[in-house]
Amino acid sequence: MTKICLINGDGVGKEVIPAAAEVLAALGLGLEFVEAYAGFGHFTHSGDAIPDATLADVAACGVALFGATSSPSTKVAGYRSPILALRKAFDLYANLRPVQSLPGSFSRQDLNLLIVRENTEGLYAGRERLDGDTAIAERVITRRGSTRIVRVAFEQARKRVRGSGFRDRGAVVTVVHKANVLKVTDGLFRECALAVAKDYPDVAMKEMLVDAMAMRLVRDPENFDVIVTTNLFGDILSDEASALIGGLGVAPSANVGEKAAVFEPVHGSAPDIAGQGVANPIGAILSAAMLLDHIGQGEAAQRMRRAVNATIEQGVLPRDLGGMATTREVTRGVVGNL
Ligand code: NAI
Ligand code: MG
Repeated sequence: MTKICLINGDGVGKEVIPAAAEVLAALGLGLEFVEAYAGFGHFTHSGDAIPDATLADVAACGVALFGATSSPSTKVAGYRSPILALRKAFDLYANLRPVQSLPGSFSRQDLNLLIVRENTEGLYAGRERLDGDTAIAERVITRRGSTRIVRVAFEQARKRVRGSGFRDRGAVVTVVHKANVLKVTDGLFRECALAVAKDYPDVAMKEMLVDAMAMRLVRDPENFDVIVTTNLFGDILSDEASALIGGLGVAPSANVGEKAAVFEPVHGSAPDIAGQGVANPIGAILSAAMLLDHIGQGEAAQRMRRAVNATIEQGVLPRDLGGMATTREVTRGVVGNL
């Protein structure tokens, strides 16, 4: 039996993860759920933001669904970000952020792109220092890190074409960088990408500077398939892209490594609306669908996506998509449409 670790976290994580679990349970696949704890709330009463027991549960299950956690705006001794800790503990180097049109007027149509973001290095390597009045951040790009993330992008591109046939023009990977300025770091990233591309003669490769990419995502996002880039660029471009389909409330993601995979909505703990029962559960539900794809339940994943689309078409929309439906009403709608 497949076990799924559920980590609600803080804020709206406590609302959207139970919603996604309810949809998963309704599929009747006999999935088993293991509840684990992490977050600022857990830290304040236990002194640990992500206990070893949670890491052990994720290791045992191999897959987890993670809500979001709150980070205090000032440094609190002993607190570490649970999602960063998970990415590090399990070397979850590939962050997959699909951007697919939803059938509502809040979403642009004809979009089906996938942003593949490097998840462990770049400007997030944690190498920042203050030297007198000069602050310096080191941007770490490695041959190993670049090669493996670009390989994930090409594999995904191949799989997407095989899986759905939605692209009659074939698979295209766009490698996004700023090698004209960051000649050494992005020079290496680009060199690795060109080398990997040689192994995939069936997948076309393009490259684009990150500023041009930011513009093209607004102007003609429907012309892109898989986009692969370094950590910070991927973080920014994927938030930008989520706005094309309705915003943070609907955007799903996966953090994938060799030993484990953690699926999470792109949004945070949304303290401004937490506890009101109005959070949009779609990002969490679509993250659960990505989890099903990952464990070889692609049929069930598609059923979930169709049920989400049907619910939107019926006009059962949460507040962030312009409707009045509560978290419960949207969830009940999706379960009813399975
Ligand atoms: P946020 O994503 O929590 O909220 C941004 C805006 O989007 C807010 O107006 C919020 O109400 C709205 N929103 C987010 N999720 C929504 C949903 N499911 N339904 C409807 N509206 C939704 O980002 P923000 O405000 O920058 O951060 C809040 C907290 O979340 C911070 O403590 C931050 O550190 C944390 N955070 C955690 C993440 C994680 O655990 N992976 C990721 C991003 C932020
Ligand atoms: Mg972000």
